[in-house]
Amino acid sequence: MARIVVIGGTGLIGSKVVAKLTDHGHEAIAASPNSGVNAVTGEGLAEALRGADVVVDVSNSPSFEPAAVMEFFTTSTGNLIAAEREAGVGHHVALTVVGTDRPQEIAYFHAKAAQEKLIRESGIPYSIVHATQFFEFIGGIAATSGDDEVRLPPALMQPIAAEDVATAVARTAAGSPLNADIEIAGPEVMGLDELVRRGLAFRGDARTVVTDPDAPYFGARMQERTLMPVDGVEVFATTLDEWLPANPPRS
Ligand SMILES: NC(=O)c1ccc[n+]([C@@H]2O[C@H](COP(=O)([O-])OP(=O)(O)OC[C@H]3O[C@@H](n4cnc5c(N)ncnc54)[C@H](OP(=O)(O)O)[C@@H]3O)[C@@H](O)[C@H]2O)c1
Repeated sequence: MARIVVIGGTGLIGSKVVAKLTDHGHEAIAASPNSGVNAVTGEGLAEALRGADVVVDVSNSPSFEPAAVMEFFTTSTGNLIAAEREAGVGHHVALTVVGTDRPQEIAYFHAKAAQEKLIRESGIPYSIVHATQFFEFIGGIAATSGDDEVRLPPALMQPIAAEDVATAVARTAAGSPLNADIEIAGPEVMGLDELVRRGLAFRGDARTVVTDPDAPYFGARMQERTLMPVDGVEVFATTLDEWLPANPPRS
């Protein structure tokens, strides 16, 4: 049994990771600002990490504005690494996005790439899990892509259920450090436009999704395969049609 501190353990992925690790007999501790642990200010970090074997970072920035998101991921990761060194933590696991290592102009991805670089250079044994877009993110994508009419490019992707992401992260945290990056994805390739169109249609959302290769995705024009995993990706089973009835997208 390991003592595993989950930074962002109250979030969508974090809460599932804590539950899965606990089910498997580990001592999993959810740490986030709501429980007095703030990775950006450093508040409560030293206490939370005392005696920890593993730290899982599935926190997310409250703001996706370019400067704010870069500040969030670099400051929080720097603070975590320093606290982990102090506490003698033997494995840092982080969740990031497929595509951060490709040429693209998405500010959020640049911030995640900076986070990954700090981890790789930290000297602490690590595992970095790159996930494709979550089905749960459909509402969020729609909300940032237009009002009555949602304009999205047909960039290919292989979206995944948050439950499957949490399975991968929990399994990685319970294993030995990989000192490498891995990719995980769902079972079906589809366009970004198609994902959102199917999600909105399922819940009877009146907005139409217009396919537009020039429409930005989080401020950037997408190439066809920027969001696609590479060979060697681990593919999880849950399909969109299985997921939708149980999980109407959050708006
Ligand atoms: N959305 C996608 O499609 C996608 C795809 C691939 C990878 N990811 C990655 O998945 C990760 C988790 O995303 P999510 O959707 O599960 O996030 P989420 O539901 O928004 O949860 C964010 C978590 O971060 C915590 N947090 C916020 N500020 C913090 C701080 N200063 N210090 C410590 N914890 C803090 C929150 O704590 P409180 O509850 O206390 O506020 C919450 O537990 C992110 O790193 C993201 O990059 C997302």
